[in-house]
Amino acid sequence: MTSEFFGNPLEEHNGNGKAAAPCIMVIFGATGDLTGRKLLPALYNLASDGQLPAHFACVGFARRDKTHGVFQQEMFDAINCFSRTKPDQALWDSFKNQLYYHRSEFDDDQGYEALKHFLDELDKKYDTKGNRVFYLSTQPSFFPTIIEKLHKHKLVYPIGSDQNAWSRVIIEKPFGNDLKSAIDLQQQISQYLDESQIYRIDHYLGKETVQNLLVLRFSNPIFESVWNNRYIDHMQITVSEEIGIGTRGHFFEEAGMLRDIVQNHVMQLLSLVAMEPPTNLSAHAIHDEKVKVLESIRPIPLDNFDAHVVRGQYGPGFINGTAVCGYRQENNVPPDSSVETYVALELFIDNWRWSGVPIYLRAGKRLPKRATEIAISFKQAPPGCLFHMIDKPIESNILVIRIQPDEGISLKMNCKVPGLNGPIQPVKMDFRYSSHFGMTPPEAYERLLCDCMAGDGTLFARVDEVLASWKLLTPVLERWQTSKADFPNYEAGSWGPEAADKMLSKSNRKWRLI
Ligand SMILES: NC(=O)c1ccc[n+]([C@@H]2O[C@H](COP(=O)([O-])OP(=O)(O)OC[C@H]3O[C@@H](n4cnc5c(N)ncnc54)[C@H](OP(=O)(O)O)[C@@H]3O)[C@@H](O)[C@H]2O)c1
Repeated sequence: MTSEFFGNPLEEHNGNGKAAAPCIMVIFGATGDLTGRKLLPALYNLASDGQLPAHFACVGFARRDKTHGVFQQEMFDAINCFSRTKPDQALWDSFKNQLYYHRSEFDDDQGYEALKHFLDELDKKYDTKGNRVFYLSTQPSFFPTIIEKLHKHKLVYPIGSDQNAWSRVIIEKPFGNDLKSAIDLQQQISQYLDESQIYRIDHYLGKETVQNLLVLRFSNPIFESVWNNRYIDHMQITVSEEIGIGTRGHFFEEAGMLRDIVQNHVMQLLSLVAMEPPTNLSAHAIHDEKVKVLESIRPIPLDNFDAHVVRGQYGPGFINGTAVCGYRQENNVPPDSSVETYVALELFIDNWRWSGVPIYLRAGKRLPKRATEIAISFKQAPPGCLFHMIDKPIESNILVIRIQPDEGISLKMNCKVPGLNGPIQPVKMDFRYSSHFGMTPPEAYERLLCDCMAGDGTLFARVDEVLASWKLLTPVLERWQTSKADFPNYEAGSWGPEAADKMLSKSNRKWRLI
């Protein structure tokens, strides 16, 4: 779908969505992994697709000493390595002239004063009109300091000031480690920024397939009319990864799967698939519906916790025939770590639409296949259905929305095998983005950076969504802290702990084989 479906319909649009306005983007943490792997390739691809504003410059901010030229060369190498389109010489020659580097510590006042003067100079050179995007691609502990300094040095403008220019701050995940820290962080930054200036990124929301969820649901009456507890038996949302933790042992020991994947990405998918139709497609209306559904999720019962929550950690095993070590043998992981690399949850949404429909979520590392999908399992044909008599019970219809890879949608239905007395067999109707549109969708960060420059916060997380998700999941983290984990409890290359299978089999359901 194209972006004109979302946001303020009165906004000015360019050929492929909303217009990104002239601005300077300052990336804090510009020598880090995310900048090279995702952010600069996204900016380059926006330039390549003609989506970058005509008046634009980008300044990388970090503490290592380097010249603009060295920074440009490093970004060229990163784009060459990670971008979906390789650098074209003519385009690169003009793009690189918009790239600058500013050296400073995050807490150094002089560094911010120098940045302010530098941005004023660049404003004159590029006619960027004082507009600023500050991208905080840093450790979360730096977010409050950087925002306080931006305010102190008048680099962000208060809403309601007579300043014509705008300033926005993109905040990387995670937004807090639990409910309390998320509330604290919000209190700290809201002293200096209005909610309309804060863009909390969850890159899943920039994925084409995730945006398509609302179009699938609300532009196809065939689906919306059966999207409720009368017809749906249960839902499964899966984020499975083949990879382990690689070199990110330190990071993962602090995070774990619930914080890293479930609290943000999985809960965002859940809110989009389960929300009520918004009154319009403005950011405000969509966020309101997402919050309502998140707040309708039944708190996890602490007196029956294990029936609703399973945690796991992988031991040694095989991935695609190759032996891999267990989590406790990974670099920078203690040999008695109790950090979870797998989570499964059974949730219920207590509202009119979803009452009684279990929602199963699972996210794990070192599972057999990389896949993110939402599977909607419809109810079995009623008892006494004609065809039960001929063969075994007929299978349920399942609608699968594949978020990544092989983005697409499939519908499983039953069909008669040709021939005399042919049995009934499930078949799949399958739509694939790549074969239908002849292209792989743009990277999520492209869409999100462009939306921020256009002032559209629809695909960013609003604070009450983040807090609702932490409110649901913080008791799980607290419970885990006080109980011993029996780890490792699944082999690398398997589909996770047995307890996760039992969570479904108690109601005669099964995880989907992907
Ligand atoms: N990497 C990913 O795939 C990924 C995915 C999703 C979210 N995120 C989030 O994105 C953020 C950045 O991740 P990352 O992996 O890019 O981090 P990273 O590789 O550790 O980079 C950290 C950056 O911060 C700079 N820095 C650190 N301390 C500084 C200080 N005191 N003053 C000035 N600069 C300082 C470093 O500059 P020097 O090199 O000059 O020291 C470097 O540029 C994190 O919030 C992370 O959770 C990352």
